[in-house]
Amino acid sequence: MSVSSEPMELATPFTEAAGVEVPLICGAMYPCSNPELVAAVSAAGGLGIVQPVSMIYVHGHEYREGLRYIRQLTERPIGMNALIEQTSRVYRERMERWIDISLEEGVRFFITSLGNPRWVVERVSAAGGVVYHDATERKWAQKALDGGVHGLIAVNDRAGGHAGPKSAEALLDELGDLGVPLICAGGVGDERDFVRALRAGYDGVQMGTRFIATPECRATDEYKQAIVDAGPQDIVLTERITGVPVSVIRTPYMERMGTRAGPLARMLLRSRRTKHWMRAFYTLRSFRQLKRAALGESERDYWQAGKSVAGIHGVEPAGEIVRRFAEALRAAGGTRGGAVGRTVEL
Ligand SMILES: Cc1cc2nc3c(=O)[nH]c(=O)nc-3n(C[C@H](O)[C@H](O)[C@H](O)COP(=O)(O)O)c2cc1C
Repeated sequence: MSVSSEPMELATPFTEAAGVEVPLICGAMYPCSNPELVAAVSAAGGLGIVQPVSMIYVHGHEYREGLRYIRQLTERPIGMNALIEQTSRVYRERMERWIDISLEEGVRFFITSLGNPRWVVERVSAAGGVVYHDATERKWAQKALDGGVHGLIAVNDRAGGHAGPKSAEALLDELGDLGVPLICAGGVGDERDFVRALRAGYDGVQMGTRFIATPECRATDEYKQAIVDAGPQDIVLTERITGVPVSVIRTPYMERMGTRAGPLARMLLRSRRTKHWMRAFYTLRSFRQLKRAALGESERDYWQAGKSVAGIHGVEPAGEIVRRFAEALRAAGGTRGGAVGRTVEL
C-alpha cells in the first residue's frame, strides 16, 4: 500500500498546531494585510494572518464581515494578530472584542505583539486555540512563556515593520532551547532563505515584504515596484513614522524628511510620564499616513519593507510563492516531520 508522505515532508510542530501544510506565514501587515491576500496564502497551504485595524480602517470591512468574506475565499485556517500594548482602555476593549469575534468565527491561531499575552492565552486556550508571541530577545520571550504562550515569533534585525536588534542566527541560539516552536521573522525573500531557515532548526518562517509584491495585495503598483527594485542597502530605519524605528525604503521623500524624530518628540518619548501618550499620538498619526501612502493617496512615500527585498525580483501571485517555497523545501529533503535538529549553520 502506498501512503502519501507529502504532508509529513513539510510538517513541523508549528504546522501541526496551526493545521496548515506549509510552514510559511504571511505576517500581519498594517496597512498591507487585505482579506484577499490573507485568503490567497491560506488557500495555498500557508497561514495568512489578519491585521484587524488594516482590515477595518484601510480596507473598509466590518470585522466579522471581513472574516466571513475570507471564509468565502478559503475554508483553510487563518490567524489573527493582536497588538496588545496597553495604550488605552478603549483600545483594550476593542481588541478583546476582535479576539472574541475571531474565536466565534473559527480562528484558532493568534499572534500577539507587545504587552503581556496572558489574557489572550486564557481566552484562546479555552477555545482550543494557540497563541504565538513576537519576541526580539530572551527576556521578552521568557515573559511571554510565563504568560503561557505556545510558540514564539523570533523577529530579527532584517525584518520589515519594527525590526529587532538581533540576527536570525543569534535568535535561534538564544531562544532555541525554550521548548516551544520558533518562527523566523525577517529577511526571508526567496526560497533559498526559506529552506535555510527551516533546515537550521526554525519550525516556520513568517514573511511580510515578499507578500506585498503580489497581485492580491492592494498596495499601489509603485510601492510593489519599489520593493522589486530595492536592494538591502536601500532599506533604512526611521523613527519619524511611529516614534520607534521602522524599516522603510529610502525614497526622495524619506531623504528630505530624515530618519530621526525631532528633539521635542524624542524627549516626550523618553519621559516616563509622557511616553505612553506620545506613543498613542504617533500610532494614530501613523495609521493615517501609512494608509494613504500604501493606497497612493499621498505624495509621501512611506513604503515599509525589510531587507528581504534582496530576494524579491518580481510581482508574483501569493499562492505561487507558497507553492514554490514548499517545492524547494521538499526538494531539499523537507523538514523530516518536524524533527529538524537545531544545529545547522544558517
Ligand atoms: C508593511 C509592513 C507592515 C507590518 N505591519 C505589522 C503589523 O501590523 N503587526 C505585526 O505584528 N507585524 C507587522 N509587520 C511585520 C511582519 O508581520 C513580518 O514579521 C515581517 O514583515 C517579516 O519580515 P520581512 O518583511 O523581511 O519578511 C509588518 C511588516 C511590513 C513589511
